[in-house]
Amino acid sequence: MIVTGVIFPVREAPIDIIALKSDMQARANSLRHQGKTIALVPTMGYLHEGHLSLMRLARDMADILVVSLFVNPTQFGPGEDLAAYPRNFDHDRELCMGEGVDILFHPEAGNIYEPGFQTFISLEKLPVYLCGASRPVHFRGVATIVTKLFNIVKPHVAVFGQKDYQQLMVIRRMVQDMDMDIRIVGGPIVREADGLAMSSRNAYLNSSQRPAALSLSRSLQQAQALLESGQTDVAALIASASHLILSFPETAIDYVAICDPDTLENIKAVTLPALMALAVRVGKTRLIDNTMLVPPQSATS
Ligand code: PAJ
Repeated sequence: MIVTGVIFPVREAPIDIIALKSDMQARANSLRHQGKTIALVPTMGYLHEGHLSLMRLARDMADILVVSLFVNPTQFGPGEDLAAYPRNFDHDRELCMGEGVDILFHPEAGNIYEPGFQTFISLEKLPVYLCGASRPVHFRGVATIVTKLFNIVKPHVAVFGQKDYQQLMVIRRMVQDMDMDIRIVGGPIVREADGLAMSSRNAYLNSSQRPAALSLSRSLQQAQALLESGQTDVAALIASASHLILSFPETAIDYVAICDPDTLENIKAVTLPALMALAVRVGKTRLIDNTMLVPPQSATS
């Protein structure tokens, strides 16, 4: 009998979920052997448009797109939000499928950090500044897990967000210092319509805290406007930003800094493009944001 008119169900793009690092390494070896290039987007999950924008960038840069989803315990200090960190694997998997991700690497902590683990990567200078001052083990944990992911996934290119500017600097420096043969690409900050930088941690905010969370992006915009009106003094720019942030309830400043975008060292006046970065607690939620302050004369020159 000839059956006609059979409609096969439309299948979403297949995605491989790999849980074991040994399986991921074997797959990476096989792909490289076939001459395929690999792009990696490392994440801790609870994906949002910021993560997806990096996947879209990475998708065009290699044959195979790997996303890692791993809430890395070594980058959380005691008393930080490791246990509470938001998770939704099924939703994350759906979003990855929608972006054409080929492999979702989703290991368990016990597989990544085996008993007896004792080797860490730490940088000497960049982690001293900004977030590193109040999170002393954070960048050691980030540099270590990113090195491990590079050794497991064996990417040719890896994409990170400028939302975590200091993290991106740490990774670029580490890759250069350790002669890792991997291209590092930075993607722009993706924001909500009202300016709030997207973050998995925004899920912690209740509706009354949301206006206070907007004080981060507002204070950055205000600083750029003040700079354009002639205020180049860093102390004055930081004072104005702090004043605006603290005018909202439930805010506590971790830091507001204006610094050299390469070394992250503090500067006194904004005469060249400078990084303005801040970390603010809104209730118990710690939020970060940053922008490049561009003095008018350097924007036109
Ligand atoms: P996570 O916070 O999940 O972020 C994963 C990547 O998404 C990072 O490169 C981060 O900078 C980027 N990202 C987050 N919010 C963004 C936004 N609003 N716009 C653009 N990019 C954004 O950063 C980490 O995980 C971890 O430290 C990790 C690198 C995975 C190591 O554990």
